[in-house]
Amino acid sequence: MSYEELKEKYEALGVPCPTKEMIKTKEQIEGIREAGIINTKVLDYVEAHIHAGMSTEQIDQMVAKKTQELGGICAPLHYEGFPKSVCTSLNDAVCHGIPDPYTILKNGDIINVDCTTIYKGYYADASRTFMIGKVDPIVKRLVEVSKECLDLAVKNLKPFSRVRDIGYIIEQHAKRNGFSVVHEIGGHGVGLDFHEEPFIYHYGKKNTGMVLFPGMVFTIEPMINEGTRKVFLDASNNWTIYTDDGGWSSQFEYTIAITEEGISILAH
Ligand code: MF3
Ligand code: CO
Ligand code: CO
Repeated sequence: MSYEELKEKYEALGVPCPTKEMIKTKEQIEGIREAGIINTKVLDYVEAHIHAGMSTEQIDQMVAKKTQELGGICAPLHYEGFPKSVCTSLNDAVCHGIPDPYTILKNGDIINVDCTTIYKGYYADASRTFMIGKVDPIVKRLVEVSKECLDLAVKNLKPFSRVRDIGYIIEQHAKRNGFSVVHEIGGHGVGLDFHEEPFIYHYGKKNTGMVLFPGMVFTIEPMINEGTRKVFLDASNNWTIYTDDGGWSSQFEYTIAITEEGISILAH
């Protein structure tokens, strides 16, 4: 069925549909996949080299160098004034941490490294949370659960799923493990630009929200907290988000495509 036919069918059922701008061609999806392959190699490189004693600035340098070697561009650098090539969010930082030479990783820390690569004009966005040395068992569980939330959401996703099905699965899994889900920041359409529509909720009611058509490309990136889901913006840099209660936060992010056949992970 064409986009127009699908839209007519779902709108007749009262189901909100994506706009035509949210639907990518096969060629565009292959372009985003190429950007994703580079992005995944960069994250693999970080995973192999991250260690206690290293500064977040050194992570920034690794990401910048590796991305350039692979022919990509780091999307965060100068994005809306962001000063570095990657986001590094430590412990109670939820996201959008800014690398600096004074923040040194130590045994027991967790750090999310969020990379976005531009290649031939296409964007792919993914992140992982790394455990440094031996972490507290509850924190280890937090990191595992945040990954499980994302993997469960992807596993349950099909063409013509509803957008809030993603959040329903994530919130359920986080809550049954005693953790909370950040509401204020969500996943997003991605591919021709860094942040596109639609907003992807990481919480909510199943079988509600927009229907997901083949051709949509977006991120899923749940931020899971140890304690309260409440967060605040660091007023000193206007970027970094922290948990209100100082509890730690973990996140993984994939770029995925909805295809005729099912789901394709373009960056992880
Ligand atoms: N990569 C983040 C996301 O997942 C966005 C970072 S914006 C930046 O959407 F400017 F901080 F890089
Ligand atoms: Co993202
Ligand atoms: Co990201």
